[in-house]
Amino acid sequence: MILALETSCDDTCAAVVTQAGEIRSNVVSSQAVHGRFGGVVPEWASRHHLENVNAIVDLALREAGATLDDAELIAVTQGPGLVGALLIGVATAKGLAAARGLPLAPVDHLQGHVAANYLLPDPIEPPFLCLLASGGHTLLARVTEHGSHERLGSTLDDAAGEAFDKGARLLGLGYPGGPALSKLATQGDPAAFAFPTAARVPGLDFSFAGLKTALLYAVRDLGEEETARRAADLAASYEHAIVEALMLRVERALRDDPAPRLAIGGGVAANRLLRSRAEALGVPVHVPPPSLCTDNAAMIGSAARWVEPRPYPDYLALDVYATRRNR
Ligand code: KG4
Ligand code: ZN
Repeated sequence: MILALETSCDDTCAAVVTQAGEIRSNVVSSQAVHGRFGGVVPEWASRHHLENVNAIVDLALREAGATLDDAELIAVTQGPGLVGALLIGVATAKGLAAARGLPLAPVDHLQGHVAANYLLPDPIEPPFLCLLASGGHTLLARVTEHGSHERLGSTLDDAAGEAFDKGARLLGLGYPGGPALSKLATQGDPAAFAFPTAARVPGLDFSFAGLKTALLYAVRDLGEEETARRAADLAASYEHAIVEALMLRVERALRDDPAPRLAIGGGVAANRLLRSRAEALGVPVHVPPPSLCTDNAAMIGSAARWVEPRPYPDYLALDVYATRRNR
């Protein structure tokens, strides 16, 4: 059994998965506190992890009907993410592993999202194209083997979920605003406002900064009363632009793909318009259940199955990394 930890952002996560990819437990402790500030506060995130991580590990073991004696491998997110937050997970993982002389598998967070697709009961096999869209990341990757992914494109500025959240804030919808904005959008006209999709950004990289600025100007030009009256149209047009920006790159990447198939992950995978647009592509689309799309430790345990484990005590010097590695 693999005991996995994930603390790269604001959720404290622990899970028990088997080598075969069965999820025995998958526990997430979310930090509601950030809503007050309109975003994740790194210092709060670290403190929350520190206070909760031991209890979350215990809970994951208990829910799996296991003890630390059953663990054969400790897996942990090494990066990218908030350094202070990552350090809590890595230090905990080192402690757990060292106490039992167990090996430790450091996992890349984005590879974890990719590996969510390999978990039972509905695993898929490479090759596939993977779109990850969350509050922290936007990544388009080609996956040809279980243990890695080739980055085709990522965001040049904001992440897709961040664009949703910033748009929602401009429309007064609270944080995180993606779901609220998407709900409001169902009552609006997606063609009411022509927001940019950064179509001119060449290749497969994403950019959402221009879109956010366009909404800011629209709101400013409309004034408070008109903005309130047309909020649904603004939300629908804005959502439409984000989804088109994502799908434009997906379509570009699929164009020359001999065996086209798409997997979608990250919190934005919950978006109804994105899913219907993806399903209309005419290629098989795989979306893991919501609990595996958002940050969780089961996906880290899954990815660990293809990571070379570090033996005790080599990993005691292991460090975290804040930004993605060139892979
Ligand atoms: O993967 P995730 O849970 O965590 C982080 O990246 O931290 O992604 C959260 C992001 C938020 O930006 C949220 O607004 C967005 O996913 N999100 C959505 C929807 N559900 C969550 N965006 C658009 N439509 C949704 N239905
Ligand atoms: Zn993530």
